[in-house]
Amino acid sequence: MTRTANIGVEDLKPNTKIVEFTKFAKPYANMEEKICKFIQHNLKGASAEVERGGKKVTCQMTQLKAGDTMIKVFDLPTSLSKLTTVSKGLIPELKKRGFLGFTVELIEKKPSTKQEKRQASVQEANQFIQKIKQSIIAREEATDTARNMLDSARKGKPSAEEVKSNIDNVMGKSSPEAMTAIASLQSSDQTYAHCVDAAAIFQTAYYAIKKKKKEKPIFEDEKMAMFGAFMHDFGKAKVPKDILESTVRFERESKEMHLLQSHPKFGAELLAGMGMPDFIVNMAHYHHVKVDTSLNSSYPQGVKYDDVIMEARLVSIVDVYQALIGRRSYKKSWAPAAAIRYIDALAGAEFDDGIWEDFVSVMGIYPKGSLVEMSDGTIGFVMNVPDDDLERPEVVIFRDADGKDFEKPTLVDLAEEQDLEIEQDLDHYEVLGDDAMDIFLQLEVR
Ligand SMILES: [Fe+2]
Ligand SMILES: [Fe+2]
Repeated sequence: MTRTANIGVEDLKPNTKIVEFTKFAKPYANMEEKICKFIQHNLKGASAEVERGGKKVTCQMTQLKAGDTMIKVFDLPTSLSKLTTVSKGLIPELKKRGFLGFTVELIEKKPSTKQEKRQASVQEANQFIQKIKQSIIAREEATDTARNMLDSARKGKPSAEEVKSNIDNVMGKSSPEAMTAIASLQSSDQTYAHCVDAAAIFQTAYYAIKKKKKEKPIFEDEKMAMFGAFMHDFGKAKVPKDILESTVRFERESKEMHLLQSHPKFGAELLAGMGMPDFIVNMAHYHHVKVDTSLNSSYPQGVKYDDVIMEARLVSIVDVYQALIGRRSYKKSWAPAAAIRYIDALAGAEFDDGIWEDFVSVMGIYPKGSLVEMSDGTIGFVMNVPDDDLERPEVVIFRDADGKDFEKPTLVDLAEEQDLEIEQDLDHYEVLGDDAMDIFLQLEVR
């Protein structure tokens, strides 16, 4: 049986077959003569869908014209099998040529034996670690972008175009799933990295929820979803920097607190002024509105909870979740599992109960990247969370009960190893200090 999927170049896996090229780097928009020739040569014999003079046109590769914008390449002939059968070496090649997204045919070969299944999991875990490595730089760039955007919005009227191209640039390079795990492995500041991490977590959770419920996302694509979440605190651009970056807590009725709590309103004004869609404005405007709108922590005041769209309700959950797990500099930090328990106690009064349940069901009780202690005293990182039993994920065990690191960490599937279970979640920072990320990246799973 075969089925197809749309994926980015980062997610290509050996053993898949590319049937369409669907996303391209910048040079393929408004193509120059040189680029036309290049793609004609590289993808000889295929058909193309392009935008030409504002219209979608389907043509043969040979009929491409300078100025066309590539939308899709399809009907790939067998003579191109070197470019369509995914191997490890092909992935960087495709990237180099600026081919960034594909429709692939998944060859579903169910692992038949336990050993095969295990091998597949080990491979997946190692790929995930690699993905994290690549995404760390993307996260830093995205954080810089967030800082620059807020700074320039502080100075004047931000242009929607500029903001969009910034976001396109950083989002294109990252894997939200990997960034979600990074969020729990590295600390973040209250504003800039917070936006980046919250955006990644939002996108991962949102699409997983929509898929699970078989509902249509409100966003035109995943980038737009990330964008919406990324901008939730954009209104902080209108809050003076010394207030924003202060580590003291302001009094409830103070002028400073009032300004801080105005950031959703400022954000909504900025985004509406930039011509952003209503749902993006809603997400920024209402991400601090609580189910019980009479709570002091609910602002702006006077909003009907019914007016808060699902996406804004989810952002409000992600916002708090990220703030808890990303906090490292002052006293209390939270392991993802502890953050989940904390928010769980507030669901209903502060957060939409149903959406909270959905969030937990897709993130897992022990999200990917969580540090856990096992019932035999060993320590490991959670790698993969199955849909059916959130308490029994796959764990990479890297430290024995005496605190000695194994030379080779081992992947244990708790669904198979019924004698072993997770004893408790641990705080990365408390156990591993600043080395949490390094230790994670050095894992060579077998
Ligand atoms: Fe906020
Ligand atoms: Fe926030």
